[in-house]
Amino acid sequence: MWKSVAAAPADSILGLTEAYKNDPNPHKVNLGVGVYMDNTGTTPILQCVKDAERILLGVEQSKSYLPISGDPQFGRQIQRLVFGEGSDIITNDRAATAHSPGGTGGLRIGAELIKRFRPEAATWISSPTWANHRGIFTAAGFPIKEYPYYDAASKGLRFEDLLATLNQVPAGDVVLLHACCHNPSGVDPDEDQWQKIAAVAADRGWLPFLDFAYQGLGVGIEADRTAVTAFAATGVDFFVASSFSKNFGLYNERTGAITVVSPTAEEKNIALSHLKATVRVCYSNPPAHGGLIVKTILSEPTLEAHWRQELAAMCGRIVAMRQALVDGLAARGVNQDFSYIKRQKGMFSFSGLADETVAWLRECKAIYVVGGGRINVAGLTSANIDYVCDSIAEALRQ
Ligand code: LMR
Repeated sequence: MWKSVAAAPADSILGLTEAYKNDPNPHKVNLGVGVYMDNTGTTPILQCVKDAERILLGVEQSKSYLPISGDPQFGRQIQRLVFGEGSDIITNDRAATAHSPGGTGGLRIGAELIKRFRPEAATWISSPTWANHRGIFTAAGFPIKEYPYYDAASKGLRFEDLLATLNQVPAGDVVLLHACCHNPSGVDPDEDQWQKIAAVAADRGWLPFLDFAYQGLGVGIEADRTAVTAFAATGVDFFVASSFSKNFGLYNERTGAITVVSPTAEEKNIALSHLKATVRVCYSNPPAHGGLIVKTILSEPTLEAHWRQELAAMCGRIVAMRQALVDGLAARGVNQDFSYIKRQKGMFSFSGLADETVAWLRECKAIYVVGGGRINVAGLTSANIDYVCDSIAEALRQ
C-alpha cells in the first residue's frame, strides 16, 4: 500500500519534541512545544487536579459512556469560565457546549459542523498562526486565506491592515481568531481593538471562530476573555474552542470544549442537535477523565480558588522568565532591543531570531526553538536561562 507513497514531513512542533528527546547533549533545552514547565523543568500535575482525582476515585461508580456532548455540568461550568458569571449568553441560554478531545478536537468538530452548513465558505487565519490551524481547517475541507496580523518591524499588531482585510471578508466565511495569547507571536489586540473587530464581524456577517487555548495565561482568567466579551456583546453567532491542556495542565488527558453561540435559545437548540450529530460520527462521545477533573474543580469553590492560585503562579513565572530573558541578553551586551518580549502575552514569544539562528542554536547548542523564532518562554528556568542567553548572544555576534 505504501511503496509509492512519500513519507509525511515531521510535525513542525511535536516533531521537534521527538528530536529533542533523542538529542544526547546534556545541556539541551526544549523551547519548542507549548508545554508549561516549572522552575525545575518539570511539567507538574496541579495540586487541585490531584485533589479532584482523589474525589473522583471515591465517587465514580461507572465508566459507562458520557452523553454525546459530555457531562451537562461540565458544559455549564465551561460556559461560566468562558463568558463569565451573569453573561447574557448564559442567562438567555444561547450557547451549546460539547466536551471535546483537547482544543484541537474542539476546533476540528467546529470546523466539521460549519462545513456541513457553509460548504462554500473559506476560513481566514492570521498571518502567522499556529501551524495546526491550517491543517485542521484544510482537513475539514475549507480553502484557507490569510489576514495580516503580526508586524515583524514594529513587533506589534498590523491593526489597520487587519481591520481593512476583515472588512473585505465575504459574509459567511469563517475568521479564526486567537482570543488571547496569540500563538506564535504573543501579540494580542487590546480591548478597543477587539470591539472594532467584533463590530466588523457583525457588520459584514462573517463567522468568528475564537481559539481560546490559553485562558488565564495572558493576564488572568477575567482579563483574558476580553475578545469573547466583545463578540458576545454583538449578539452574533460565533464559536469558541477551549483547551484545558495548559491552564489545567491536562495535556495528555486531551480535554477541551467547543461552544457554539447563537442569537437565540431556539437557534442554539438546533445548533446543539447538529453539534451532537457531528461529534457522533467523529468520536461518538468524549473521553471522560479530563473533563470530570475540570468539572470537579470548577464545581467546588475551594478547589476552584486553589486552581486560580496555581494558574496565577504559572502565569507569574512566565512573566518573570520574560524579564529574565530580556535582562540576560542586555547584560551580555546584545545591543538589539528585545524589550518587546516583555510586552508579549502567554507562553510564547516571537523572539525575532532568524531561521539561520534557530538552526544554529539547535545544531550547536541543542536549544530547540520552533522555525520562525517562536520560543516557549515557559521552558526557561533558572538552571538554563544563563546557557540560553549566552548561546543567543553568541549566535547574534556571528
Ligand atoms: C503548541 O503550539 O506548541 C501547542 O499548542 C502544542 C501543539 O499541539 O502544537
